[in-house]
Amino acid sequence: MDFPTLMQTRRAVHHFLPGGGLTQTAYEALLRVVAHTPSGYNAQPWRFLLVTDPAVLAAVQAAAHDQSHITEAGSVVFILGDMHWQRAEKARILRQWREIRGLSDAQLQSLQASLEKERPEAQVREMTLRAAAMASMSFLLAVEDAGYASCPMMGFSQPRVRAILQLPERYLFGLMVAVGTADPEKTEPPLPRKDVSALCYSGLAEHD
Ligand SMILES: Cc1cc2nc3c(=O)[nH]c(=O)nc-3n(C[C@H](O)[C@H](O)[C@H](O)COP(=O)(O)O)c2cc1C
Repeated sequence: MDFPTLMQTRRAVHHFLPGGGLTQTAYEALLRVVAHTPSGYNAQPWRFLLVTDPAVLAAVQAAAHDQSHITEAGSVVFILGDMHWQRAEKARILRQWREIRGLSDAQLQSLQASLEKERPEAQVREMTLRAAAMASMSFLLAVEDAGYASCPMMGFSQPRVRAILQLPERYLFGLMVAVGTADPEKTEPPLPRKDVSALCYSGLAEHD
């Protein structure tokens, strides 16, 4: 499928066939594609968590306004951003920029200072969520390209789902994605998008 068609045909699917969730093999194939998502410093501050256990899916659904497509899909993937990426990724980042990009000692020192900088928590959150959002969109497109259907979701209680998954606070929820096989008899009409004219920002004058 060409890229414009992929973008135009992807849907947030709410009706899935039973037994059509992701297998471990399919999941890993998706991650090999999604791994190519760009990130600041090439830090790749994301983690993915696949849930297929019906009991865990049911618990997540209960913490997500009982949205039934969670258990129906058969699998859910959480895209997580690691708030500790500066510490966790520093050595790898410096090594690759030295060995692959050939940065000079002075450039490496400046890169190291930037990686060691104490940033306000709000800024770290913003940077981490930006990266997780980038990976999330890659994931949705990779899922579509692989012939699965998905529903991106944030309508859930983050504290409750965090407790269910026993997820440490350092990981932020980028997105939860229900992944499965679409029920062809329950397709939903596409939701319209804004016209290009409404997308183009034309300066402060438009707010007068
Ligand atoms: C961040 C985010 C959160 C969303 N949360 C939910 C959700 O909790 N439940 C749901 O059914 N759909 C959810 N959606 C799906 C949107 O409703 C859907 O993407 C949007 O209406 C456009 O429809 P489309 O994806 O089919 O083009 C979410 C989408 C995004 C990007």
